[in-house]
Amino acid sequence: MPFKKNIIRMEIGPSLLASDLSNLASEAERAVQAGADYLHIDVMDGHFVPNITLGPPVIKSLRAHSDAFFDCHMMVANPEQWANEIAISGGNRYTFHLEATKEPIKLAKQIKNLKMEVGVALKPATEITALDGLIEHVDLVLIMTVEPGFGGQKFMHQMLSKVEYLRRRYKTLNIQVDGGLNSETLEKAAKAGANSIVAGSSVFSYKDLKKNCFTREKN
Ligand code: DX5
Ligand code: ZN
Repeated sequence: MPFKKNIIRMEIGPSLLASDLSNLASEAERAVQAGADYLHIDVMDGHFVPNITLGPPVIKSLRAHSDAFFDCHMMVANPEQWANEIAISGGNRYTFHLEATKEPIKLAKQIKNLKMEVGVALKPATEITALDGLIEHVDLVLIMTVEPGFGGQKFMHQMLSKVEYLRRRYKTLNIQVDGGLNSETLEKAAKAGANSIVAGSSVFSYKDLKKNCFTREKN
């Protein structure tokens, strides 16, 4: 089980949503060259969130140009429906929203069977205790630090108590934060116990990613 590993890595994954989507392959490459640990891909269906982004065909096309780890954040209703296609398209982690499924453990098993890592995400209004009984079935918990749907929003500091709660209980669980992360909020999130940082606008706002991002020492 993931949290039984005795080390966790600090990782940063740029959210491609904030990149130049007309040049997705070269943006992905630019992020990897600059030191990204994984690429965060936001899939939105216009139902679970009020926005539409991309889906399996685009992920499949990108996979032909990139060997990076694809961290797929599924902001979709009925996440059971898309796991197979995301796996076939080259997804490496499938993070579903707890709010979108009635059978999270069954879904986690489905994802595992497809040889992807399992992530479970919580919207800001969802209580952390909603995860009770689920942690042992997942590789990562994503604590949303903005309302899912759009990049460029303000970081919700009050979400850090969820991160602290989880880190107190699970020393080696992968805890991801997503939304409003920049050099300042990143530090607070890391102090609270997050070890996987998703950042969109704060990364891609730089022309020279290599010079401006990911300068921390690798562990
Ligand atoms: C929001 C997405 C995020 C978004 C983050 O629903 O899940 O991944 O791209 O963007 P920033 O870093 O700009 O808040
Ligand atoms: Zn995301």
